[in-house]
Amino acid sequence: MRKPIVGGNWKMNRGTPENAREMLDELIPKVKEMKDVDIVIAPPFTALSVASILKVTNIKLGAQNMFYEEKGAYTGEISPLFLRSLDVEYVILGHSERRNIFNESNELINKKLKVALSMDFIPIVCIGEHLEERKAGKTKNVIKEQMEGTFKEITKKEMEEIIIAYEPIWAIGTGETATPEQAEDAHIYVREILTEKYNDNTANRVRIQYGGSVKPHNAKKLFEKDNIDGGLVGGASLEADSFASIIKAAQETSN
Ligand code: PGA
Repeated sequence: MRKPIVGGNWKMNRGTPENAREMLDELIPKVKEMKDVDIVIAPPFTALSVASILKVTNIKLGAQNMFYEEKGAYTGEISPLFLRSLDVEYVILGHSERRNIFNESNELINKKLKVALSMDFIPIVCIGEHLEERKAGKTKNVIKEQMEGTFKEITKKEMEEIIIAYEPIWAIGTGETATPEQAEDAHIYVREILTEKYNDNTANRVRIQYGGSVKPHNAKKLFEKDNIDGGLVGGASLEADSFASIIKAAQETSN
């Protein structure tokens, strides 16, 4: 059985340690009994010092991005070594905002992914289609192409460490969620590709989160689907109440 995983992607919000801590002080007691779900928060780099208060909790720390070199002349980039020194365990790679606003290609994400794996981070790799692509019936082609490029030369053993977040771009931050059926169909397709590339066993092991306007009122219906193993949450992860209800929905649907 796959353990669900709920991630809070804070994006460019709650970026001071005080602001992050305020939310976590509320969240920690609300979720401390929820053992059947993995919980991750990914604050901005400037708030990663909250690692110290997460240490004794069941909440893990993630980064929203990282570079593939350890050091050097890369103005504005963050080294995996710096993240390691801050007790970061997870790293989100290839978020659609990185792909679209910062032109990150599958090739670049693949490079980062290999480094993340070699340094024992748990990568959360995002894929998903634009609205026009969905309307044109190209969702599967997009998923396939992104997976081929992003997971190039990734071994079976490595693949089983990776978490995939299927996030249709038209659902991100728009309040428009994919229906549980639409999300489930996409997740089934992701598993088909994993079966083709690796085998059934690997396809069944990889956890696939859904992301895109996951909210307390829709989380349970999404997480109840067989192939949806939790969610990657943006807006609703910024407040303790809403994030805790989503985590609870994952806990309740965990088997
Ligand atoms: P949202 O963001 O929940 O605000 O739609 C999800 C994401 O971008 O990961």
